[in-house]
Amino acid sequence: MCTPAPKIEATASDYFAARIAEYDSLVRRAVPHYDELLDLLEVHFPKSARDIVELGCGTGTLSLRLARCYPDARITFIDAATEMLDVTRQRLIAEGTSRPDRFNLVAATFEDVELPDRQFDLITSNMALHHVIDKATLFQRIYDWLRPGGTLRFGDHVWGQTVGNREIGRTRWIAHCQSPGQLTEAELASLVQHRHQHDHYISVKEQFGIFERVGFSDPDCVWSDGNWAIYTAEKA
Ligand SMILES: C[S@@+](CC[C@H](N)C(=O)[O-])C[C@H]1O[C@@H](n2cnc3c(N)ncnc32)[C@H](O)[C@@H]1O
Repeated sequence: MCTPAPKIEATASDYFAARIAEYDSLVRRAVPHYDELLDLLEVHFPKSARDIVELGCGTGTLSLRLARCYPDARITFIDAATEMLDVTRQRLIAEGTSRPDRFNLVAATFEDVELPDRQFDLITSNMALHHVIDKATLFQRIYDWLRPGGTLRFGDHVWGQTVGNREIGRTRWIAHCQSPGQLTEAELASLVQHRHQHDHYISVKEQFGIFERVGFSDPDCVWSDGNWAIYTAEKA
C-alpha cells in the first residue's frame, strides 16, 4: 500500500491555517526564544501610538501585546487566513476591552490590502513578512501607509549574507529542531518543505538596502542570531 504524499498547501497562509490547533506549540518548539524575541520587539515599541497596523497577526500573540500596550489605539490586524483572524478575535475578546470597536480585523494579503496613506504611527509584524516575494513593493507600501514621524518595528526570519553563513544558520536551526522536546521528524520535514515553498528570506544587509531605497531613516537591526532579526526604521 502506498503512503499518501503530504498535502502541499498553495500559500503560506493555507499552510498555517491547516495547523492552527497546534500553531502556538509548533512555533515555540521551532523558533528558538520565540517569546523572548517578542519581548524584545515590545521593548522597542514607541511610547505612544494612536493608529497601528499589525501584518500577519496569526493566532494573536503579538496582537494581545499591542492591545495591552496601547489601550486607546485603533489597531488594524491583517492576515490572509480567516481562521487565524478568528483566533485573534477570540483572544482579544477573552482579554476584555472597554472598546472592542477599536480593533479592525482584515482578511487580505499584504500584497493586495488597501490601506490609507499617511495614516499610521506604528506598523509592526512578527515572522510574517518573509512570505512576500516582492520586498521592494511591500516596504514601499508600508512606508506610504506610515505618517511622517511614524515607525516600523518588526521581527522576521533572515538569512546570512554569504552562502556559508546561510548554511551555518540552517544547520543550527535543524539541530535546534532535532534536540529533545522540540519537533518530531514529521513536523521538521513539513517545516523544511514549507520553508522551501513559501519562505523568501533576505539578509540584514539586503534589508538595509531596501530601507534606504524606500526612504526610511535611521534603520536599525536591534537583534539578530543569523536566522531571525528585529528591525526598527523611521519615516521622517
Ligand atoms: C509564521 S505566522 C506568524 C504569526 C504571528 N505573527 C506570530 O508571531 O506567531 C505567519 C502569518 O502570516 C500570514 N501570512 C503569510 N503570508 C501572508 C500574506 N502574503 N498576506 C497576508 N498574510 C500572510 C499567515 O496566515 C500567518 O498567520
